[in-house]
Amino acid sequence: MPLKIVKTVAEVRQAVAEPRGRRARIGLVPTMGALHAGHVSLIRAARHETGFVVVSIFVNPLQFGPQEDLSRYPRPFERDVEICRHEQVDLIFHPEPATLYPPGFQTRVDVAELQKGLCGASRPGHFRGVATVVLKLFNIVQPDVAYFGQKDAQQTRVIQRMVYDLDVPVEITVCPIVREPDGLALSSRNQYLDANQRQQATALNEALEEARQRVAAGERDAGRLIAGVRQRISTAPAAVVDYVAIVDADTLQPVETVARPTLLAVAVFFGATRLIDNVLVSPG
Ligand code: PAJ
Repeated sequence: MPLKIVKTVAEVRQAVAEPRGRRARIGLVPTMGALHAGHVSLIRAARHETGFVVVSIFVNPLQFGPQEDLSRYPRPFERDVEICRHEQVDLIFHPEPATLYPPGFQTRVDVAELQKGLCGASRPGHFRGVATVVLKLFNIVQPDVAYFGQKDAQQTRVIQRMVYDLDVPVEITVCPIVREPDGLALSSRNQYLDANQRQQATALNEALEEARQRVAAGERDAGRLIAGVRQRISTAPAAVVDYVAIVDADTLQPVETVARPTLLAVAVFFGATRLIDNVLVSPG
C-alpha cells in the first residue's frame, strides 16, 4: 500500500478504519523524527509483527524544558518520509503543535514516582510531557501494539506503568538499543556533537560495558560499580556527568547491591548536548 501522510486526528481515524475493518493488527511507532537506524529497528519490528504500521513524527513541545533544544531539534521531514517509504510504513501522522494542543489544553498525565529520578531529576516535567503526548497518540491511533526503544529506559517504564495504571488497551514492545560500530547509542542528538566530542562519546558505552563485565565477574556492590563508571567516563575530558545510577529495573529506585534485574544508567553532557545510555544486568 502506498504511504499516506496525514496531519489531523480525523484523517488518522479515517486511515486506520480500513485495516481495522479487515482485522489487521495496527502497530504504532511514536517518534520525534530525524529518523535513524534506532527508529528503523522499531519500524521493522512493527512491520514484521503487525499488518498496518503508523509512524508519528512530532517534536513534542510539552516534553522540552525552557532551556532545552526544542527550536533547534532537527526536523528533516522529507528525509524521514523517504525512510518511512523505504521501510513500507503505511501511515505517517505529522500533526502541528496546535492540533495536539489547541488553545485551552490543560490536561497532564503524571506517572508520579517513575518520572522523578534519573532523567526526571534534571528534566522536570519531561516525562509528564512524554506520558501526555503518548496517551494522546494511543487514543488517536488506537494501536494494538506500540514500539519503544530500551535506549530511553525510563521512558519505557513510564509508558508501561501508565498503560497498566490507566487500563489502556495497547501492548508495549521494547526493542534493544541500536549502536554505532564504536558502541555509541544512536540518537538524533548525536549530530550536535563536534568531532572531538563525538570521539569521546564512546566513553558512555565503554563505561557501562566495563561495569556489565564486572557484574558478570561477581561484583555486586553498586557504590563500587558507580565509582568505576564515573572513573571511566572521566577519561573523556569533555564529558560532564549528569548522573550515574544503579536502579531496580522495574521500580527505578536506587539499589545498593545487584540482586535482581538491575539497570545501570548514565547521562552525560558534552557541551550543551546531553547523551544517555544504559545496560540491563542480572546476577547469575
Ligand atoms: P525519539 O527520541 O524520536 O525516539 C523515538 C523512539 O525511538 C523511542 O522509543 C526511543 O527509545 C527509540 N530510540 C531512539 N534511539 C534508539 C536507539 N539507539 N536504539 C533503539 N531505539 C531507539 O522518544 C521519543 O522520541 C519521544 O519521547 C516520544 C516517545 C516520541 C514522545 O514524544
